[in-house]
Amino acid sequence: MPCTVIAGGFWGDEGKGKILSYLALKDKLDFCVRTGSVNAAHTIWHEGKRYALHMVPGGFVHPKCRLLIAPGSNVHVAQFIKEVEETQVHKRVAIDNQASIIEEKHSNQDKTSAHLKGLGTTGWGVGPAIEERVRRTAKLAKDIPELKNYLTDVPTEINRALGQNKKVLLEGTQGLLLSLYHGSYPYVTSRDTSASAICSEAGVGPTKIDDVIVVLKSFITRVGTGPLPGEMAKEEATKRGWFETAAGTGRDRRSAPFNLELAKKATAINSATQIALTKLDCLYPESKAAKTYEELPKEAKQFIKDIETQTHTPVTLIGTGPNALDLIDRRK
Ligand code: IMP
Ligand code: MG
Repeated sequence: MPCTVIAGGFWGDEGKGKILSYLALKDKLDFCVRTGSVNAAHTIWHEGKRYALHMVPGGFVHPKCRLLIAPGSNVHVAQFIKEVEETQVHKRVAIDNQASIIEEKHSNQDKTSAHLKGLGTTGWGVGPAIEERVRRTAKLAKDIPELKNYLTDVPTEINRALGQNKKVLLEGTQGLLLSLYHGSYPYVTSRDTSASAICSEAGVGPTKIDDVIVVLKSFITRVGTGPLPGEMAKEEATKRGWFETAAGTGRDRRSAPFNLELAKKATAINSATQIALTKLDCLYPESKAAKTYEELPKEAKQFIKDIETQTHTPVTLIGTGPNALDLIDRRK
């Protein structure tokens, strides 16, 4: 802080929602800026309720946090309105005038394209919506009457806030290995998902960024098609307690063990200053709900040390359970 970027390091679903909600509450975030589009769902447990947010920034858990949706993002109007109701954030959420709009026709195009089906897209229509933006025929947020009361200029708000030393978090979506540039093309999403792209979508330059936290899960999952090194059968994943279904689409997630080479790539391309490691309790059940590093079993400590040595990046936040506060915070 004051300006931190959160980026996924693998194929999304690393647990960014949990890390975001913890930081929002613990650091009392002033601003949380969501990037990307509706294809990504961030799962957040808050006051006993589970939220799978596709549009509203995860910082909503802190009642004083201003919630912004970036100019580079792509907004699904009905989903946005629904989540604003669900989270009751009418008075503190806003969308940049220039954010582009995803429509029903884009979802139809996504679902009926044999090519996109082959990639295993989420079906929300994000690829076709971005194509339309690049063609320069897309609708923008400022063109939509239902959004009239929610419009703002996000870069102006954030840059002013940073000038006043306010705490700003830029919320990335998905993960590096789904990046249009750095991922396993063509089995990728329709945008760059790296920390630099998150800044660009939000309207903040790299010299204003104090920290880049790359979120890595203690094992790897992937939905949709494309390569997954070390992929294991669903039965094996279930036995190990790694089997998950997607928060957004409900599809089965494929799974594989943690991969140091991929972790090195993710921390390098994102220029990570810190790593948040989630779901350590799924790998080492004895670490469940641990609140201090000292409580962790020896094997878990060694796993963390190996990650730090190989990536040259400190593991500062360690998730040990689903609640926002099941977390070891080693930040200074
Ligand atoms: P699209 O982004 O819907 O076009 O899907 C392209 C690829 O990205 C597919 O493999 C999807 O499963 C994957 N994908 C998109 N968003 C997410 C996400 O938030 N989490 C995990 N995978 C995603
Ligand atoms: Mg997700």
